[in-house]
Amino acid sequence: MKIPGDIKILGIFGDPIEHTLSPSIQNAAFNALSLNMVYLPFNVKNENLKEAVASIKALNMLGVNVTIPHKEAVMEFLDKVDEDAEKIGAVNTIVNRGGVLTGYNTDGEGYIESLTQETAFEVSNKNILMLGAGGAARGILYALLKRNPSKITIANRTIERAENLKAEFSKFFPEATINITGTNKIESIETFDLIINTTSSGMSGTEETKLIVEPKNFKKDAVVSEIIYKPMETPLLIEAEKNGLRLHKGLGMLIHQGALGFKLWTGKDAPVEAMRSAALVSLEAR
Ligand code: ATR
Repeated sequence: MKIPGDIKILGIFGDPIEHTLSPSIQNAAFNALSLNMVYLPFNVKNENLKEAVASIKALNMLGVNVTIPHKEAVMEFLDKVDEDAEKIGAVNTIVNRGGVLTGYNTDGEGYIESLTQETAFEVSNKNILMLGAGGAARGILYALLKRNPSKITIANRTIERAENLKAEFSKFFPEATINITGTNKIESIETFDLIINTTSSGMSGTEETKLIVEPKNFKKDAVVSEIIYKPMETPLLIEAEKNGLRLHKGLGMLIHQGALGFKLWTGKDAPVEAMRSAALVSLEAR
């Protein structure tokens, strides 16, 4: 590996960080466009987050991604936070422009970009069911609400969390119709055009649980969408496929949130297919 003295350094801060695919994805993009840049994983503990953010300036890094558990906590250490990221309440991308650190959130827009490119689904005027009201749901919900769906139903195991999310986001989107329900009480399942799972149910390493919703009852032309990419074929997607439904797999969001970060750092359109190939190679190597 050649490391020139003037190489630009980027990375990702998280804990744990060993399993991140982002270095493979970003370095593949830099290689594809012959950019003099390198992207490294950094294991940053909570108590070191402030110093880690200061080091972006001290080391003259071009920027970083931020992942679990730092997406919310990092905001107070930045010089500026983009308006959408502020409302979402989480930052996943930091750009260093001449010593000024600005935080962005590319998760929700990355999700939409992936959904649009892979399924051609248009959110406007659609009836959407979102499973989950945790950290992963926030950026997605925000990006969906920006596109004026006819209705969004948030279904969560712990209903208070869905209530809180609704209360918070209704302030930003007063015209939006947001319903909330428990995951065991979802009504009119056959009316949804898009069903998104933002919960960790179905992720490898989690306990086998029964499906939160049964795809056999979905509308025939519904899109069933995951943000989990390990496994790529989640129990929900397998069942949805058996029922002939349209599928949106989880890897796309990861690729496209990275592609938007790449654009913020480099000003260039990301080589998305090179990034996707690198992610698939890394996933297969595990
Ligand atoms: P993340 O940042 O990945 O969203 P999180 O904030 O802990 O993580 O949220 C996890 C989400 O998955 C929550 O909506 C959680 O429901 P609760 O709020 O009731 O905990 C949901 N979740 C996790 N495991 C679940 C399961 N087996 N069935 C239903 N929902 C589940």
